[in-house]
Amino acid sequence: RCQVDGASTIHDTSELADINWDDIGFGLVPTDYMYVAKSPKDGVFTEGELQRFGPIQLSPSAGILNYGQGLFEGLKAYRKVDGSVVLFRPEENAWRMRMGAERMCMPSPTVEHFVHAVKQTVLANKRWVPPPGKGSLYIRPLLMGSGAVLGLAPAPEYTFLIFVSPVGNYFKEGLAPINLIVENEFHRAIPGGTGGVKTIGNYAPVLKAQSIAKAKGYSDVLYLDSIHKKYLEEVSSCNVFVVKGKVISTPAIKGTILPGITRKSIIEVAQSKGFQVEERLVAVDELLDADEVFCTGTAVVVSPVGSITYLGRRLEYNNGVGAVSQQLYSELTGLQMGLSEDKLGWTVGV
Ligand code: COI
Repeated sequence: RCQVDGASTIHDTSELADINWDDIGFGLVPTDYMYVAKSPKDGVFTEGELQRFGPIQLSPSAGILNYGQGLFEGLKAYRKVDGSVVLFRPEENAWRMRMGAERMCMPSPTVEHFVHAVKQTVLANKRWVPPPGKGSLYIRPLLMGSGAVLGLAPAPEYTFLIFVSPVGNYFKEGLAPINLIVENEFHRAIPGGTGGVKTIGNYAPVLKAQSIAKAKGYSDVLYLDSIHKKYLEEVSSCNVFVVKGKVISTPAIKGTILPGITRKSIIEVAQSKGFQVEERLVAVDELLDADEVFCTGTAVVVSPVGSITYLGRRLEYNNGVGAVSQQLYSELTGLQMGLSEDKLGWTVGV
């Protein structure tokens, strides 16, 4: 059972927070509570507690600060029209965190602990879950080496923390198609590296290419593999899919690609709608005659791609209004928001 810090004001969670729900993007809106659990030396996490959302104390010598020993997750809660709140496949995030923790030499919470902690955090912040159709509550679990180290070694103590923020669309384009540029100099991941797990260290290195691209007016960067510079990998913050007729292709999960939960869900939804989905090496040249390209991720959901610039050539797709990505977006969000019947058991009430 989670406990709320006794000194806190307890908000009436049946009311909505007093913000302009028509004007939320993807920026942090501080909410009421965060969840914190610690794992001292034995690798077993304490029960954890809800604390007021705010700064945390860390030793300047913490493993996370010095050596980047940390992972994050991302999932969303939606408010249904009946007022109840649902999570989308939270146990998948729990498993992915466990897999990443193994790669990063960290203990991780059990799947049950993870899901329970997510539910408690969402419930304590229920007034921040946007009204139906206005967005979602983005949930950010963190797992970090919080104990002090000086020599390079796994930290002696770990912190599992969850904070939340109401969010709207990830890209400033909203639901409009995004414009990508294929990156030729920098790479996101290398074979044998950590591209396939959600370590925090995968994200700062993409900022340089991303900011150069944004300064030129692009929405984000599409990375190629680092060996052949020929195969699609992913966008800085999401996976990529290429549509040709009834075939949808996406880079296979082979260590350098993040196993996105939206990616996995879209594959299943597409197959159930009669598409053939191929997980394989997808050559950059296939962009030349693709019908549509779209990106998937928890934050971006399903984002249609309007154009991709590759070696100075701008490839445009369907005037950006891709019928396939539109169909898959509607199917997926219908499930996530509890609008359509969840025959697969993907949604979990809090
Ligand atoms: C997510 O989609 O949840 C992510 O973790 C990507 C992040 C860069 C916003």
